[in-house]
Amino acid sequence: MKKRIEAVNKELDCFSPSNNDEIEQFRISMLGKKGQITALLNDFRDVPPSDKKEIGQLINILKNRTIELIENSKISYKNISPKSESIDLSLQQEFIELGSRHPISLVKNELFTIFQKLGFSLSEGPEIEDDWHVFSALNFPKEHPARDMQDTFFIEKNPDILLRTHTSSVQVRTMETQKLPIRVICPGRVFRNEAISARAHCIFHQVEGLYIDKGVSFADLKQTLLFFSRELFGPDTNIRLRPSFFPFTEPSAEMDVSCKLCGGKGCSVCKHTGWLEILGCGMVDPTVLELNGIDSKVYSGYAFGMGLERIAMLKYGVKDLRLYFENDIRFLNIFKNYL
Ligand code: DAH
Repeated sequence: MKKRIEAVNKELDCFSPSNNDEIEQFRISMLGKKGQITALLNDFRDVPPSDKKEIGQLINILKNRTIELIENSKISYKNISPKSESIDLSLQQEFIELGSRHPISLVKNELFTIFQKLGFSLSEGPEIEDDWHVFSALNFPKEHPARDMQDTFFIEKNPDILLRTHTSSVQVRTMETQKLPIRVICPGRVFRNEAISARAHCIFHQVEGLYIDKGVSFADLKQTLLFFSRELFGPDTNIRLRPSFFPFTEPSAEMDVSCKLCGGKGCSVCKHTGWLEILGCGMVDPTVLELNGIDSKVYSGYAFGMGLERIAMLKYGVKDLRLYFENDIRFLNIFKNYL
């Protein structure tokens, strides 16, 4: 009898099930009608009375140990594998690919770093705006054709609520809330009702700059833009300003940088002019200062605004605007080595 008990104990020592079926089979082989422990209990009646106490104790311990082992196996098996019946240890670990920064974020970060050196801080505003912040406070008269320069998305046919068409609206919000002097750059998404093509998109990104203080001049604007262009495109870069029109600046200009690809000699990228247009700028119109509660006899300022897609296009040679928004992993992977 003792030998049989010992043999069962050894079997318990070796028991390591790999699924629920094996646990159940083991239970039947021990405690079922024809199980080994059931047999031991049946044969107990033949044990001589002098051994009954000892053998009885051994069988009880064995039975309790078996029950405990079965229960514990069920619990630990459940914890390891809640769903599947078996664990496939040879299964390959799915590895997580490292991402890359989006070219628009790369350019944005670079602009932040450059303008931070000049003491500019960051200012942001909402994408859903009202007519005042996008147009009226920037000297776009009602019904004026200048509003047609930017085809607007209106929200629910309410002509007062719209998606901002430019980040110049953040200039207004900054003038409303910040104390003078103001020196900010304002990045953000803008929206225009345009057909999507390689050269135009209904969503794009701009960065706006605004500096208002006593005695700010056009020379300050020009020097700031020259510094910025050389930091961004390299020390040999030249700039030129061409007269232009924006309702909120007077005088207004458009700035070109010398084409980096051909060194100003003329190529297909710069359409054989040697120059690439990158931003609009000007001195903040005194009317805009007054509309925003700033005394234009004491203060003056400059502003500029540029499209990030255009800059990323020139820096990285991206030829199709749609690529920025499609999240095609093959396009994004190109920027893996840029920080
Ligand atoms: N808001 C203009 C646009 O979207 C860009 C611009 C031009 C911004 C001149 C300015 C500026 O701040 O001074 O086309």
